[in-house]
Amino acid sequence: MSPFIKDASVQAVLAAASIVDVVSGYTSLRKRGATYTGLCPFHQEKTPSFTVSADKGLYYCFGCGEGGDVVRFLERIESLSFTEAIEQLGERFGVPVEFEEGAGPEAGRKDRETRLLLALERAATFYQRFLWETESGRFAREYLEKRGLEEKTCRAFRVGYAPDEWRGLRRRAAKEGFTDRELEEAGLLIDQGGKTYDRFRGRLMFPLVDHRGRVLGFGGRTLKDETPKYLNSPEGSLYRKGQLLYGLYQARRAIADADEVVVVEGYTDVLGLAQADVGNVVASMGTALTDAQIGLMMRFTSNITFMFDADRAGTEAMLRSGDLARGHSLRPMVAVLPVGRDPADVAVQEGGQVVSEVIKGKISLLGFEIRQALARGDTSTADGRVRAFEEVRHIMSKASSLKEREEEIPAVADRLRLSSDSVALLLRGRTRAGFESLANREERDRARSSLTRRLLSGETAVERDFLVAAACNPGRAGRIIEALTPEHFGDANNREVFLGLREAFALATDTNDHRAAFAHLKDRARGDSEAGPLFVRLVMEADQGRYSPAVLEELHLRLQQQYLSRQIDTLRATLDDGADREEEQRRLVNLERLLQSVRAGLKDLDPEEGRA
Ligand code: CTP
Ligand code: MN
Repeated sequence: MSPFIKDASVQAVLAAASIVDVVSGYTSLRKRGATYTGLCPFHQEKTPSFTVSADKGLYYCFGCGEGGDVVRFLERIESLSFTEAIEQLGERFGVPVEFEEGAGPEAGRKDRETRLLLALERAATFYQRFLWETESGRFAREYLEKRGLEEKTCRAFRVGYAPDEWRGLRRRAAKEGFTDRELEEAGLLIDQGGKTYDRFRGRLMFPLVDHRGRVLGFGGRTLKDETPKYLNSPEGSLYRKGQLLYGLYQARRAIADADEVVVVEGYTDVLGLAQADVGNVVASMGTALTDAQIGLMMRFTSNITFMFDADRAGTEAMLRSGDLARGHSLRPMVAVLPVGRDPADVAVQEGGQVVSEVIKGKISLLGFEIRQALARGDTSTADGRVRAFEEVRHIMSKASSLKEREEEIPAVADRLRLSSDSVALLLRGRTRAGFESLANREERDRARSSLTRRLLSGETAVERDFLVAAACNPGRAGRIIEALTPEHFGDANNREVFLGLREAFALATDTNDHRAAFAHLKDRARGDSEAGPLFVRLVMEADQGRYSPAVLEELHLRLQQQYLSRQIDTLRATLDDGADREEEQRRLVNLERLLQSVRAGLKDLDPEEGRA
C-alpha cells in the first residue's frame, strides 16, 4: 500500500505540518529565541542538545547528530515509510493526500478504506466496552481472571468480548450508520443468501492492529471449547495475516530500546509477557513468519529471538521462519522453553524474572538445530554417527557466517567424539582436506566420505586395535584386561571378543600357559558368530608382535577415554530433565575427573595428542 503521493500533496502537507507540534509529542520543548530546545528523543541524555527551528521546519541534535525535516522525524521516531509519514501528517493537519495513479478511482478506494477502518475501530471499542461494562461480559472477565490476565494488560491490547447473539454488533453499527455491505467488507458480518449475522459471537476478541495502531481485523477465541479455537477475520483488502505482526504497535518502542524482538506464537503469549514486563514481543499468530513480517521487524531491530511453543508444530514453524530470516542476512536466536510449556504459562505463573532468564539464555538457531539433529541421531554406532554428521553438515551450510559455523564445532566434536580439528576438516570437505589433487569430483566425494567414515568410526577401530594389541602383549595385558568391563566396548562384536579374551587370560593366569589359553580362543573363532573373523585375527596376530607395549598403553588410554565420554554423555542426558539428582551429579564429577586424567595421560604420550 505505498503508491506514489502526488508531489503537490507532499508540498501541501509539508506547508501545513508544524514540526514543533509533532516533536512536542515526543519531548518537551522550550522556546529559546528563534529555536526550541529539549532532550533528544533519539538518544539518552541529561542536558538538552536537541533543537527545532520552527521557521526552517528542521530539527537537529548536537548530541547524536540526528536531524532532518518533519517527515524524517516521523519516519525515524515511528519507523514509518515516507508514504505513511505523509499520510499521517495529512490526517493530522487536515490536508487531503492524493495519489499519483488517477485521483478519481483512487480517491474512491481511499474513501471506502477509511469507512472500513472506521467500522473496525468502532467495533474494537464496542467489543471492549461489552467486555468490561456489561453483565454479559462477566463470563469473559472471569475467564481472563482464571488465566491470570489482568485488566490493565487486556486494555493495553484492547481485548474485548463479542455478544453471544446473532446481531449484537450489527444492531450497534447500524445505529452508527454503517451499512451491511460495509460491515461485510470489514469482515464483521456474514451474508448468507441475504440473511446477515455477526461473524464473531461469544468470543474473546483480540484486535489485529497494524504497526500504526489501525485495527485491520480480529482474532476471536472461543470460551466454550468450540472449533475453531480462534476465528480470524477473513483475508481481504485490509487484513492480510502475513502482513502484520500481532503486538508490534504496542511493542515497537520496547523493541527499539532493547534492540531485540522476541517472536512468540500466540496472542495470549504476547499478553502474558507484557504483563510480566517483557514488552519487546510480537506474535506470528501460529504460523511461520512471512518475508513481509520479517521486513516489518527489521524496521526496528535486526536481532530476532524466537520463543515458540516447545512442541512439534512450534518447532517446525520456528525452523521455517529461521530459514526465511537467514535469507535477510539475520542470525536468528532461540530462547528454549521447558517442554510442554508456552510463553504465556511461564510468564503468568512464574513471572518476568524467569522469562527474562529464558530469553537471556538464548542460543543460536543454528546451534539449536544442530543439537536437535545430534540428539535425534544414534551416535552410539559408526553408521549413526556418519548419518548424524551428514545432517549436521547440511545444517551448517545454512550458517550466515564462517564465525557462526565455527562456534558450533566444539559441540559437534564433543557429541561425535572427534577432535574439533577433525570436524573442521570434514566440514571443509573436498577443498582443503587434501582431496584437491584428485581430478574428478566423484572421486573427491568418495574420498571425502571415506574419510568421514574412518574418522567417525574411529571408536570401533580403537576397540579392535586394543584387543589385538592385548593379544600381542599377553604378559602385560592380563592385568589391564582384568580391570575392564564389557561396557568399555561399544561394538557388540568387540565386546564378545573381549569376553573371550578375558576368559583366556584368566585361564592363562591359572595355568601359566598362554599357548593353551590362545588355543581356547581358536575354538571360538570357529563358532558362527559375527565376531569369528576377529577371533581369528587375534590368534593370528598373537605371535607376530605387531603392536609394542607402548601402543598397547596408548590404545588402553584411548579406550578409556571414549568409554568415559560415552558414560558422561549418557549421564548428562538423564540429568537433562532438570530433576535434582545429587548422586548422579557426584558420579558425573567423578567421571569427568577420570576423563581429565586419561586425557593428561594421552598428552604425556605425544604432545600432538592433547587435542584428540
Ligand atoms: N491460531 C489461529 N487459528 C487457530 C489456532 C491458532 O489463528 N485455529 C493462531 C492464534 O494467533 C494463536 C496462535 O495461533 O494465538 C497460537 O495458537 P495456540 O497456541 O493454539 O493458542 P494460544 O494463543 O496459546 O491460546 P490459548 O493460550 O488461549 O490456548
Ligand atoms: Mn499457545
